[in-house]
Amino acid sequence: MNKNKIICPCKKVTKGDILDAMKNGALTYKEVKKETGAGSKCGHCKEDIKKFIKKHKEDI
Ligand code: FES
Repeated sequence: MNKNKIICPCKKVTKGDILDAMKNGALTYKEVKKETGAGSKCGHCKEDIKKFIKKHKEDI
């Protein structure tokens, strides 16, 4: 996985940022949003982020 890949262009949040937030205990979209700001502007990244969390939950 390319951790530098941006998953939320509005807030310039990368996959690595989401993973870090997950490691800090944010395991839902809502918590990740609060922690990183991802999804707090246009919201278009919402489904991608949800999928990402689901996919990587077990690896944390
Ligand atoms: S792309 Fe994430 S809020 Fe716009």
